Amino acid sequence: MEKKICVITGGGSGMGLESAKLMGRTHYVIICGRTVGKLKDAIENLKREGVECEAFPCDVGDYTSVRKLAEHARKLGEVQAVIHAAGMSPHMGDAEDIMQTNALGTVYMNTEFARVMGEGGCILDVSSMSAYLTPSLVMPRKLYKYALEDVELFREKINRSLRIFPKSVRPGVASGVSAFSR
Ligand SMILES: NC(=O)c1ccc[n+]([C@@H]2O[C@H](COP(=O)([O-])OP(=O)(O)OC[C@H]3O[C@@H](n4cnc5c(N)ncnc54)[C@H](OP(=O)(O)O)[C@@H]3O)[C@@H](O)[C@H]2O)c1
Repeated sequence: MEKKICVITGGGSGMGLESAKLMGRTHYVIICGRTVGKLKDAIENLKREGVECEAFPCDVGDYTSVRKLAEHARKLGEVQAVIHAAGMSPHMGDAEDIMQTNALGTVYMNTEFARVMGEGGCILDVSSMSAYLTPSLVMPRKLYKYALEDVELFREKINRSLRIFPKSVRPGVASGVSAFSR
């Protein structure tokens, strides 16, 4: 492939889709997300704008799915850029799902793409200012070391730390805590 590749998670909507329009001026774009119909509409939209692109369904909270995405991108050509915009806001799920997508998804994306990208490549993780609004006391700085070594332990420790908050505010806290991973 002549063009270098840009992979955009969450490329089916919002900031991911807008980023795809910009990156598509200079790159071949692969957009990812879980909802195939949304990706299909986004691809039509991008192609109308002259972007060379394709969709690859992927759940960033699933390590195997991320591995397949990275492997597919590597086989297509040189992966120069990743914009990791996939994420869940507090209203989109419970605290555990938010941690799985936002925190573990970010660890998985960075780990797998660091393996397939060459020198000079760039991974941009879209975060949230909620990381700065969450008290540093609840930031799981010491827990991230478990995210790849022992994912069950990571989940258990993180979820235990979230359970000290009332259920109604846990998704918001999870959003702030997971934004720290980015
Ligand atoms: N908009 C804001 O005001 C704001 C504020 C702070 C932070 N952010 C963060 O900025 C990023 C982009 O925001 P946005 O407003 O553009 O969001 P958006 O329109 O809701 O887009 C998020 C995208 O992520 C995808 N996604 C969600 N979970 C996923 C998963 N597990 N695997 C793969 N894809 C997944 C969604 O598609 P599927 O559901 O089809 O998978 C969706 O296309 C998000 O990470 C969001 O948390 C946004």
